[in-house]
Amino acid sequence: MLFGVSTSSYQIEEDCDDSNWSREHPEHKNGIRHRENFEQDFVFLKNLGINSYRFSIEWSKISPERGVLMAKGLDFYERLIDRCLENNILPIVCLWHFTIPCWFQDIGGFLKKENTRYFTEYVDFVFQRLGEKVTHWVVMNEPNIYAMCSYLLGVWTPYTANLVNFFTVNKNLLECYQVCYQRHTSRTNTIGVILNLIDFDRSIFVFYPFIYIYNYFLYNLNRNIIDFIGINYYFRYSFTWKDLWYVYRGDQFFDRYIGSESHSDLGWPIDDGTGLVNVLRYIHTRWRDLPIVITENGIADRGDTKRQKYLKSHLDVVMKHREEYNIVGYFVWSLFDNIEWEYGISPRFGLVEIDYENRFARKKRESYDVYRRYIRSMTKIKTE
Ligand code: BGC
Repeated sequence: MLFGVSTSSYQIEEDCDDSNWSREHPEHKNGIRHRENFEQDFVFLKNLGINSYRFSIEWSKISPERGVLMAKGLDFYERLIDRCLENNILPIVCLWHFTIPCWFQDIGGFLKKENTRYFTEYVDFVFQRLGEKVTHWVVMNEPNIYAMCSYLLGVWTPYTANLVNFFTVNKNLLECYQVCYQRHTSRTNTIGVILNLIDFDRSIFVFYPFIYIYNYFLYNLNRNIIDFIGINYYFRYSFTWKDLWYVYRGDQFFDRYIGSESHSDLGWPIDDGTGLVNVLRYIHTRWRDLPIVITENGIADRGDTKRQKYLKSHLDVVMKHREEYNIVGYFVWSLFDNIEWEYGISPRFGLVEIDYENRFARKKRESYDVYRRYIRSMTKIKTE
């Protein structure tokens, strides 16, 4: 069983100047200065007692300009991979976590089918350099969320809300994923994709079209091109008739729950793990033999008063059902507080707190030790 933590490049690394998100939000382009603090950060990683680490490569650092692929851009990641391997931490390398190079966005991004070759060429380039060292690859993180936020809800750059574009982007991403898989699958590696899943159980039928759209990528994903599936799971939500009114008013959906005890700092409902079981059961019923990795699970909880219970309840569920549903890994989101997309630095997901005002100082939260102890107790049981 893999126990780990997940991060993504743009959310923690400095100098992401050539990515579309840094262009939109220059105030966040330092991330948490992870590269500068690498030695210290690696100690946090190692002391947690995890046996796997999932992180992403920043495409715009490898390809800052159209037609350019820079080997130098991979140096940091290779060092990180080596360090993980030396410490018996399995690196799971994600090739794309939402951000794209500015030039790629400017020529139409994933909306244009002819552009997808730039992504596959970048992926080829990375495999050429790191393919010998890395065995576990994620081609894309949450293409379903990317397509929805950028092309349907219009809350992420390029801020368009168009159903046709949404489906086109999904189609192109699916094809792109397939090309990457087929080119790089081998006996010695494992390649998959990560999707964000919500348990929408018991939602009223009026919302079924939305749920279909949310899961469009999943419904169109072919079992033959995944060695495993990564699930990012945060909460369950049942749409009610009242929600129609909120949607009609165009409210920020979860804002009304902010401040409530039973919700996170982002207003997301806090579940006891029941929703996760439903999602796992669903995936397992769909693809019985498929290994499942929970690639993200966590909560925005600045005060760290709800996280410990949240993580424990989800971990318990994972341990209880791991054989039944073929769960092979569990990863907390995230090791550090980080740049939470359109919300910036206010939501705090980290096991380690970042003090942005005080030169990005790091400090363990109690949950860090809770997770560390949990892993230790599980590993003990296994070896006894
Ligand atoms: C994303 C992360 C994000 C987290 C919390 C996931 O959808 O992969 O980048 O920070 O959720 O919102």
